[in-house]
Amino acid sequence: MTEAELYTLYKGVYLPSSLHPPQSLRYYEEFTFRPDDIVIVTYPKSGTTWMQEIVPLILSGGDPSSVETLPNWDRAPWLEEHRACILNLDERLSPRVFSTHFHYNMMPPGFFEVKPKVIYVTRNPKDVFTSSFHYYGMASYLVNPGPQSEFLHKFLDGKVMFGSWFDHVKGWLSAEDRGHIMYISYEEMIMDLKDSVTRISQFLEKPLDTEVIEKIADRCLFKNMKQNDMSNYSIVPCEFMDQTKSEFLRKGIAGDWKNQLTVAEAEYFDAVYKDKMKDVKYKFVWD
Ligand code: A3P
Repeated sequence: MTEAELYTLYKGVYLPSSLHPPQSLRYYEEFTFRPDDIVIVTYPKSGTTWMQEIVPLILSGGDPSSVETLPNWDRAPWLEEHRACILNLDERLSPRVFSTHFHYNMMPPGFFEVKPKVIYVTRNPKDVFTSSFHYYGMASYLVNPGPQSEFLHKFLDGKVMFGSWFDHVKGWLSAEDRGHIMYISYEEMIMDLKDSVTRISQFLEKPLDTEVIEKIADRCLFKNMKQNDMSNYSIVPCEFMDQTKSEFLRKGIAGDWKNQLTVAEAEYFDAVYKDKMKDVKYKFVWD
């Protein structure tokens, strides 16, 4: 199926129509935030599910009940998705945890008024591309990626769900008021998960004992998270996500692009990256 058949163009970016009907977009547009809400913001395939495990565990002081009983999409719901309207989010106790893939300039008015806490996760775009390529091949609600070289152009041109990686990252990095935003990368989490959990807990004003930090970090290791049916998408019907083609928790490493991109593709990617990111001062781990 084509982009025209599967996607809706919303505020200039493609959204998968089956997950984002007009009423959910309207719901999000009118959403009332609380100052202590926590919003996990990511470009898709940057570590959303990982953060949806870490944040609830920090808030519960390491108690795994919520991550063992609620699927990640109800535990930290995407505000732009159809389920958000039916979860009675206004009845949830504070602090509530949400997710969004929206660009900064797509966020609804209530976000800019209330300024809830944001955790913005970045990931090396070549790994985001690699993860996306496999994911688009197994998720039926997305346009099949086709040959890798074709998908590479679509990805770099932002003709994929949630638009351009470059615009997403640049928008969030140049947010007007960054006091309520924590920036962290997938690579930092790979390099030192305990330190990352500690920093996130400090940002959330929920300092934890070393043993609790260690317990959370251990639970959130790729190999352990993969066993959690509430986070590994195994309860999603295979007509929607066919994990026999590619698992959702696929490899969980930094640098897999080296196994995916040809030398010429990597060079082309770097040239586009250099041009599009030339005005960005932020120092990324992968630069
Ligand atoms: P790979 O496809 O490279 O393995 P998102 O949740 O934003 O869709 O991102 C999915 C990516 O995050 C996948 O990358 C997935 O394996 C990875 N991921 C999820 N949990 C992880 C963990 N605990 N440790 C490392 N990577 C993880």
